[in-house]
Amino acid sequence: MAKLLINEKRKKGHINAEIYGHFAEHLGRCIYEGLYVGEHSDIPNVNGMRKDVVDALKEMKIPVLRWPGGCFADEYHWKDGIGPKESRKRMINTHWGGVIEDNSFGTHEFFELCEQLGCKTYVNGNVGSGTVQEMSEWVEYITFNGVSPMADERRQNGRETPWRLDYFGVGNENWGCGGNMTPEYYGNLYRRYQTYVRQYDPAHPIQKICCGANVADYFWTKGVLETCFKDPKPNPDNGQLLDGLSLHYYVHPEGWQIKGSATDFDDKVWYKTLAKAKYIEELILRHSAIMDQYDPEKKIGMIVDEWGCWFNVEPGTNPGFLYQQNTMRDALVAGISLNIFNKHCDRVKMACIAQMVNVLQSVILTEGPKMLLTPTYHVFHMYRHHQDAELLDSYIDGNKTIGMEEEYQVPFLDESVSMATDGTLNITLNNLSVTEDAPVEISFAQLMPTHVTAAILTGDMQAYNTFDSPENVKEVPFTAYEVKDGSIFFTAPACSVISFRIKET
Ligand code: AHR
Repeated sequence: MAKLLINEKRKKGHINAEIYGHFAEHLGRCIYEGLYVGEHSDIPNVNGMRKDVVDALKEMKIPVLRWPGGCFADEYHWKDGIGPKESRKRMINTHWGGVIEDNSFGTHEFFELCEQLGCKTYVNGNVGSGTVQEMSEWVEYITFNGVSPMADERRQNGRETPWRLDYFGVGNENWGCGGNMTPEYYGNLYRRYQTYVRQYDPAHPIQKICCGANVADYFWTKGVLETCFKDPKPNPDNGQLLDGLSLHYYVHPEGWQIKGSATDFDDKVWYKTLAKAKYIEELILRHSAIMDQYDPEKKIGMIVDEWGCWFNVEPGTNPGFLYQQNTMRDALVAGISLNIFNKHCDRVKMACIAQMVNVLQSVILTEGPKMLLTPTYHVFHMYRHHQDAELLDSYIDGNKTIGMEEEYQVPFLDESVSMATDGTLNITLNNLSVTEDAPVEISFAQLMPTHVTAAILTGDMQAYNTFDSPENVKEVPFTAYEVKDGSIFFTAPACSVISFRIKET
């Protein structure tokens, strides 16, 4: 029997709610159809935003939303997306599917959506094909309260008060789709562009995010930070030079070229996928070690603002739309990744799964008026209590490694534990085996678990929800545990995610 040892006396750091963040790009059916259907749609909406989707995201407790890209961000010119909708520019979305972008979802709509969701805002600016002036005017348009050309234009467009802009990304993937730059070149541009991300509201400073690496590109991390920190040091009047450095990592079991099917895979590919998900821990540690050289006090957050599974598109769908199904395998990838982010909350301050609706590892899929919650949604829902809780010391004694290939071994069980402000303990535990159930004992330093509730998500590894059978895989209460002598005993079924909430009264 594996023993999960929890030291509830030892708090290890604050789990930023933003670790449970999301990303929505102008890509495929994410924004249009997935989130925004327009005020005149038959699909129930509030100011154009789908009511069913907004309600589900609120129930999941979405903390922050990143927009408008992705690769789209470095081609997006925000002025195309303001003013009367009928006069907004129509253009081709050259990155994603070559479809017409009518700009009906722009700055006002994004902030309206975030207000409906009650989440923080993360806007990604354009460095690749945009000017410093354009970026600086966008920040002025969004956040300035006084008299200025941009603030006046915002008022003319119907919004009197500024919005709260929590995070601003200075470019996206500038090593690739965002301009194919070298780290030194981007580092210098970053220094320049961020200067004009003005802090108009000192009570709510905008956190500036610098474009970080793809996967294991440590050369990029080193080069950008070296450039940012070299003399002459930027004037500190505009706040810290960078508050966050991004990291992008996608799991595609068969590699970038082939990727593999989202639903049709065997046990071997299952373990390979989970092992590749686990690899993000090494990425965090190694990029963080470079960050430590420049920022030993960890004032700069690692912002994993794109992560998740990237498989082949669903057969018959537009290859440029990146629409894929979502199985129990995605649920385990989400569970593993979120446990890792929790455990590295000293450095990881935000993570945004890609992408929120209808694109890559989505929490929601839609088809016309229908909507379904994916297994990944249920994991986010089960993990939501970790948001803004304190990470606790935990260890699984008697854990073993499993897998079918030497190269792709994973731990049998995987966990993270936190304590909420009201003293409730949150435990999230995954059984990564496809076949083997796991008897588990949870024990505490001193706590006597008197109030215990639990939920489980489990099913065949290929199980997923369809529009005809939307509740095939879903979170249900878990009651098959026994509390004895201060410990909790249960069996975690193969291929499962379990969450416990525990309180001593
Ligand atoms: O999420 C899809 C794309 O993946 C994003 O646009 C880009 O930033 C990344 O390469």
